Amino acid sequence: MQDQMTIGIIGCGAISRAYFGGAQNTNALRIKSCADIRAEAAQEAADTWGCQAVSVDDLLADNEIELVINLTVPKAHVEVAIAVLESGKHVYSEKPFGVSIESGRQLLAKAAETGLRVGNAPDTFFGAGVQTSRKAVDEGGIGKPIAGTAFMCGHGPESWHPNPAFYYDIGGGPMLDMGPYYVTALVNLLGPVKRVAAMTTKAFEERVATSETTHGLRIPVNTTTHLTGAIEFVSGTVVTMIMSFDMWRHNLPCIELYGETGSIQVPDPNGFAGPVFLSKNREEWSEVPHAFPANARTIGVIDMVRAIRSGRPHRASDALAYHVLEVMLAFDKSSESATHVEIQSNVEPPAPLPLGLDEWAVED
Ligand SMILES: NC(=O)c1ccc[n+]([C@@H]2O[C@H](COP(=O)([O-])OP(=O)(O)OC[C@H]3O[C@@H](n4cnc5c(N)ncnc54)[C@H](O)[C@@H]3O)[C@@H](O)[C@H]2O)c1
Repeated sequence: MQDQMTIGIIGCGAISRAYFGGAQNTNALRIKSCADIRAEAAQEAADTWGCQAVSVDDLLADNEIELVINLTVPKAHVEVAIAVLESGKHVYSEKPFGVSIESGRQLLAKAAETGLRVGNAPDTFFGAGVQTSRKAVDEGGIGKPIAGTAFMCGHGPESWHPNPAFYYDIGGGPMLDMGPYYVTALVNLLGPVKRVAAMTTKAFEERVATSETTHGLRIPVNTTTHLTGAIEFVSGTVVTMIMSFDMWRHNLPCIELYGETGSIQVPDPNGFAGPVFLSKNREEWSEVPHAFPANARTIGVIDMVRAIRSGRPHRASDALAYHVLEVMLAFDKSSESATHVEIQSNVEPPAPLPLGLDEWAVED
């Protein structure tokens, strides 16, 4: 295939299955090699998915590989991404972009210095749920958006994740783990953020894993686990947000937006499909038919490959992910300083997907 790109994967843990599997649905990607600091994890993935397991150094030294998907744990994202750029390859990392403003800026600077592309998850905003919502909002379905709510509440991943410690370490917590889905969807729908005011806390100093592989593991909690606050967008829209690993049960919606003439229910942004509901004034909700294919994880990498080949901007961009990181980190900063935190970065929302595309297709 003319536009096929040979790629490597660094980090062969739980989420790597989605990328190895996703790559099989497209001609845009050929996974040549995979690597992990746990050599046995790389070998298992290579055996399962039919590529070669190599060391991280050997993967970076392979000149046939043009792009690396970085699926390491959050604390390693920037270090690994910078090493990939220094090896002369493009990099697409899982979320979050980094775990601090400083590390995020280092990666932006390295991208500018090398002229290589940096992409970052989430790519769930390519899904039918958020794209259909975006179309409805852009077409004036709710009038000018005035306010919104965004809630991701649960009791954390230690009941199911095979290696949950990183969720409670620096770079974890509900905001840096799940916030990328919510804040990226909101920026996609409402544009860039102006400022944040928040209060953040944690309920437990320690968590006990109950997943099969790490049952009984005691995990120190080094992040806030309940973050509540308000985001003011440059447009003037104000969104109330709760991100929590401290709540057992609730009836809160994922994302709703309230406009001058109506309201919209946006489905779970940690998914690709999900129904969209619109209401005019006080009318009953009615479902908005999806105007886009569902898509699935890896679509952001495919978009980046096509964008590199044709010279257009890629949608899951470093600028978007850095802006989202700054907003997320502003919650703890606001809480600690008891002030509104002004967001310094700015970003244009990514271009909406064109209508009429097939699943796994993005235009050139
Ligand atoms: N598990 C999920 O459902 C899920 C969903 C979406 C996104 N993510 C994101 O994907 C990333 C990985 O999550 P996961 O659940 O697969 O974690 P995981 O712990 O299962 O896998 C991470 C892998 O990276 C390897 N690794 C860590 N540091 C490395 C380094 N410096 N060099 C090479 N390999 C390194 C580890 O050995 C491990 O195999 C995280 O950023 C997470 O937020 C996970």
